[in-house]
Formats: sequence, structure tokens, C-alpha cells
Amino acid sequence: MGSSMDNQHNLRIYRLWSPVYDRVFKAISRGGRQRAAALLDMQPGETLLIPGIGTGLDLLYLPASITVIGGDLSPAMLAKARAKAAGRDITLTEMDAQNLDLPDASVDAVLFTLILSVVPDGAAALREGWRVLRPGGRVVIFDKFLPENAALTPARRLLGRLIQTLGTDPNRRLSDLLRGLPELTVSHNEASLFGGQYRVIRLDKAATKVQRLTINRIGGTQQGAPTFPVGGAIT
Ligand SMILES: C[S@@+](CC[C@H](N)C(=O)[O-])C[C@H]1O[C@@H](n2cnc3c(N)ncnc32)[C@H](O)[C@@H]1O
Repeated sequence: MGSSMDNQHNLRIYRLWSPVYDRVFKAISRGGRQRAAALLDMQPGETLLIPGIGTGLDLLYLPASITVIGGDLSPAMLAKARAKAAGRDITLTEMDAQNLDLPDASVDAVLFTLILSVVPDGAAALREGWRVLRPGGRVVIFDKFLPENAALTPARRLLGRLIQTLGTDPNRRLSDLLRGLPELTVSHNEASLFGGQYRVIRLDKAATKVQRLTINRIGGTQQGAPTFPVGGAIT
């Protein structure tokens, strides 16, 4: 990924962010979170995993009738999430999103909000979420990505390094994270904040294992590839 971020760095940074995180990010992220919650379409009794739940801002937009498993690396962020957990069926626990302590196919849905750009290896975190997702389940992502058609210029690289010191990497491409995920359909990929650099995405996992021929983003065909729009129009 070309990222200098690691778990120790994230632990330090998010301990510092924890007292002010909601004040800084609650209002600006509201629209994206609401859209993500709508795309998740949680039904009563379903189980939702939220890796990197942070201070739990997503809980404000999710129904109380579901079971939530929220993991995060940072005890300081989790302490803030606990304050939003009253009246819910929720487990909040220290957990590395890249290495989930959960069985295969054990949840109905997974929500990744502003986390795939933060963990050292976003692709590993997405693979883990996909592993624990049941067949027929869905993943919703709200995050920023490097536009598919944008070159990673030296200037962007430098800016990325600076932003990484604040605890997030703006230079990850969605297509890199999705590569190799089996049984995947990208059913929504919508622009959100900052001219579409932030996006809300829904991924659906096939209900049964099927061998599909899908068109990949450079126009060829390949088995089991993510169903990108032709021409790489993910941006
Ligand atoms: C930008 S915040 C997003 C928090 C929350 N998802 C939200 O939408 O507000 C990133 C979160 O990822 C957590 N984090 C960083 N590395 C992680 C890892 N390897 N596993 C789990 N959580 C991690 C941080 O502690 C922080 O709470």
C-alpha cells in the first residue's frame, strides 16, 4: 500500500483524537453515515459487524433492533463508543480489523466507515470482513479513495504522507482493496463528500458459490473478478 501507518502509530493517534473526534467529525460525516445505514438495510434480529467502530458515531443511524459487534484497536475510542451503547444488543471489544476473532460466515452484514483508509493493510481488513460475512450478506463502505483514473503523482504521494501522520491514508484505490474477493458484486458506488473522493459503496456476496464470468475494468473477462463498471469508472 505504500503506507507508513502501523497499529502502534494508530493507537497513539486515536488516543489523541478520542476526546475531540465527535466534535470534529460528527456533523461532516452525517450524510455519508446515513446513506451507508440506508444501504445496509438492516432487518430486526440481524447481526452487524463494525470493524474499527471508533467512538460509535454509526450507532446513531442504526436501528436498535439489531445485534452489533463493534471492534477497535483503541481502548480510548471504544470507551467513547460505550457511552452510545445504552439500550442496544452490542458487544464492544478490542479487535484488529485485519485479524478478526470471529468464525467464517457468522454475520449478516459488515460496515466499514473511515477504516479501510486507516488500518495498515486495508485489503486484509476487507478480506477478513468478507470471510466472516455469510453467503448472501452485504458489506457497506463509507470512506475516501484515490480516484481510479488519477495518477499517484509525487505531489499526491507527499500530501498522502502528511495526512498519514493524522491517522489516515488518502491514496488507496478501491480496486486494489477489492481485487481477489470471491463471489463479489459491487451493487452501489456513489459519490459522497469532497467531489466524490469520499464514497458510499455496497458489496454483495453471492448467496451460493457460483462460477461467474464478469467483465473486468479493462474490458476483458475473467472468472470470479469483481464486477467493476467497464472502463474503470469507479471514481
Ligand atoms: C477514522 S477512525 C473511524 C472510526 C469510526 N469507524 C467512525 O466512522 O467514526 C479510525 C478508527 O480505526 C481504528 N483502528 C486503527 N487501526 C485499527 C486496526 N488495525 N483494527 C481495528 N481498528 C483500528 C482507530 O482506533 C479508529 O477508531
